[in-house]
Amino acid sequence: MRIVIDTERCTGHARCVVVAPSLFTDDERGYGCVIGDGTVTDETLQEARGAVNACPERAISIIEG
Ligand code: F3S
Repeated sequence: MRIVIDTERCTGHARCVVVAPSLFTDDERGYGCVIGDGTVTDETLQEARGAVNACPERAISIIEG
């Protein structure tokens, strides 16, 4: 599984960075970006789901593979 941000939808709320600091960091504009390739493990799945639910723009998805 991987977590991804739809950059067309993201408007920089940065809640993903707060909710899932293992998976997201912020860029120079304060927008969230996925750390590395966004791989979600059993240990980070809860954070990933929290980020999906926390994003007001529904810009975050967990994808298979
Ligand atoms: Fe963007 Fe949503 Fe994070 S708007 S910065 S993906 S909380």
